[in-house]
Amino acid sequence: MSKALDGLKILDFTHVQSGPTCTQLLAWMGADVIKVERPGVGDATRKQLVDVEGADSLYFTMLNHNKRSLTLNSKNETGKKVLERLVKECDVLVENFAPGALDRMGFSWERIQELNPRMIMASVKGFGPGPYEDCKVYENVAQCAGGSASTTGFRDGPPLVTGAQIGDSGTGLHLALGITAALLQREKTGRGQKVLAPMQDSVLNLCRVKLRDQQRLQHGPLKEYTQDGEGVEFGEATPRAGNDSGGGQPGKILKCKGWETDPNAYTYFITQAAVWQKICDVIDKPEWKEDPEYATPPARLTKLNGIFGEIEKWTMTKTKYEVMDICNPLDIPVGPILSMKEIAEEPSLRETGTIVEVDHPERGKYLTVGCPIKLSDSEVEVTRSPLLGEHTDEILADVLGYSADEIAEIHESGAV
Ligand code: COA
Repeated sequence: MSKALDGLKILDFTHVQSGPTCTQLLAWMGADVIKVERPGVGDATRKQLVDVEGADSLYFTMLNHNKRSLTLNSKNETGKKVLERLVKECDVLVENFAPGALDRMGFSWERIQELNPRMIMASVKGFGPGPYEDCKVYENVAQCAGGSASTTGFRDGPPLVTGAQIGDSGTGLHLALGITAALLQREKTGRGQKVLAPMQDSVLNLCRVKLRDQQRLQHGPLKEYTQDGEGVEFGEATPRAGNDSGGGQPGKILKCKGWETDPNAYTYFITQAAVWQKICDVIDKPEWKEDPEYATPPARLTKLNGIFGEIEKWTMTKTKYEVMDICNPLDIPVGPILSMKEIAEEPSLRETGTIVEVDHPERGKYLTVGCPIKLSDSEVEVTRSPLLGEHTDEILADVLGYSADEIAEIHESGAV
């Protein structure tokens, strides 16, 4: 079967998490991703959070499937010549170096355009143009600067970062979309272009609803936040709202049977207006169906804590899965809080290829998250991440056409 991005060559200068997330997705969709790594060192994550001595870490392997690894010293003269040829051969260069690093290597955007006017140069940076453009940035810095931390957590606690890597993986996703759009535009114009996904901007994009609430605050309290029903005044900025949905359909995390000992015996429960009557029946509060104090969504807004307290009395008598089994047929939206252990063992995720078992020569079998985007005409087959420099000679020969003697000379120069 052909793949969506068959024939596309990606010069992958990415490292750590944000950039590799992007190029891994492109590889899953069929692109030939050539990961360029420093000889003898490679992507720093290969040797971070090591769990199996001597083997590439899960941090690395889980972000670099389906790629080929080429070691190349881009600061060595021969290395630069090889890199120039790669720039001419490839369609997209993806990088997430610290600001200015590519220029310092001698590969400015101007130079890249000179070498290959069709090249799409895609970058992740911490910040876009402005006062912080030169900063180095990691995941949690982006979560903080992009508005996520100030709006995550409980009102009476400090700002919180979230486990979802919205700064790194979230930005990688944004970058992948930018690249595919630029490729489509190139079909019409014949020209490449620069694609930039700053981490702050990507996080903010994912926190869009919180900027919505910031502006709503100017017109009065946020009635969908339980804070309002508790009579606590709002400050100047969108507050942290705990587990409130904060949207049009109020929701909350509620305890389920076993919560005393199981940290994940909880469910998310949404009191969707259209099924209010069914909720009243399920929790045995039929009198709330017609009571004007409870019958309409606006009447309920000031009493959310009391309402969820009553619902929780019911959910505490059921496991999170029983809550799901009872509520789903009634169209009441609920969701069990699944632990990573439960997710790893979930058969349906294995069947769809979202959880995949991969074999690796150094570490043996491990689980990974496969491609979360499903294309009906472009099947994904997850293959293991490359060892450092595993494909160096193959790429020099097949992609760049170097002879065996030339490859030997490149080795002697210390460029690979
Ligand atoms: N050959 C020779 N030199 C190489 C090389 C290669 N193949 N690959 C990388 N290098 C060099 C770079 O040119 C750079 O050298 P310079 O500082 O002399 O210009 C050096 O290695 C270090 O690169 P840098 O990107 O600065 O790495 P770092 O470990 O200091 O910083 C980050 C890491 C993630 C903070 C930084 O890269 C960054 O801010 N990236 C953008 C934002 C981002 O993606 N953050 C999230 C990461 S998940």
